[in-house]
Amino acid sequence: MSAYPAELAEDWDAPWDAGGEPLEIRPIRPEDAAAHDAFFHRLSPEDVRLRFFAAVRDLSPAMLARFTRLDYDRDMAFIAVRKRTRETVGVARLVREDDRSVGEFAVVVQTDVKGHGLGLHLMQRLLDWAWAHGVPRVVGEILAWNTPMLDLARHLGFHLRHIAGEPGVVEAVLDRPETAPTRDPRSVSDLPSAVAA
Ligand SMILES: CC(C)(COP(=O)(O)OP(=O)(O)OC[C@H]1O[C@@H](n2cnc3c(N)ncnc32)[C@H](O)[C@@H]1OP(=O)(O)O)[C@@H](O)C(=O)NCCC(=O)NCCS
Repeated sequence: MSAYPAELAEDWDAPWDAGGEPLEIRPIRPEDAAAHDAFFHRLSPEDVRLRFFAAVRDLSPAMLARFTRLDYDRDMAFIAVRKRTRETVGVARLVREDDRSVGEFAVVVQTDVKGHGLGLHLMQRLLDWAWAHGVPRVVGEILAWNTPMLDLARHLGFHLRHIAGEPGVVEAVLDRPETAPTRDPRSVSDLPSAVAA
């Protein structure tokens, strides 16, 4: 298990507050379990269904452990944390198959802060990490009526295709761009101005 990659943390001013609400975007860690459970319980039932494809009522201890105890050489999850309250308001995660050929993404943003660019930013950080870690392909399953996520996937360049025998689900596929830099993601100098300034 690799060390916690603290150098991947960044400050990000969320545009939903005049002057921006300071958020910290960083890899998840085991100590986030309680905050992650509280975040889950602030999601609307509809958003829970869109994320988990089921009316999940509670995150089991096993799910919480799986979501917060990561092997950072293999998987990643970036969370958005309010700096004032330490509340988690968003997460984008990537889980790799054993043969590391494919990484599957999942993303959810707290219902009351959707539509302000956080989902896009978390996914961009996740894809940056994936490409820098040599993940050849990122995929995700999206409910066919989930317009915001379908649009976000298109926005990021994913190819959307129907899955045979599953009319209600769309598969999103994005291959590693040839141009993707194989830079060490631990170098912070390349990060967008939101951080460098
Ligand atoms: C999908 C989701 C993560 C988007 O996060 P968000 O922070 O609201 O999205 P952003 O503000 O970053 O928007 C980025 C892009 O997503 C798309 N998008 C976001 N909200 C949208 C909406 N209500 N309708 C249509 N497109 C939308 C747009 O393409 C948008 O780009 P634009 O603002 O330039 O038009 C969020 O709606 C969510 O958490 N949904 C519930 C859980 C879920 O569906 N997870 C995905 C499971 S596969």
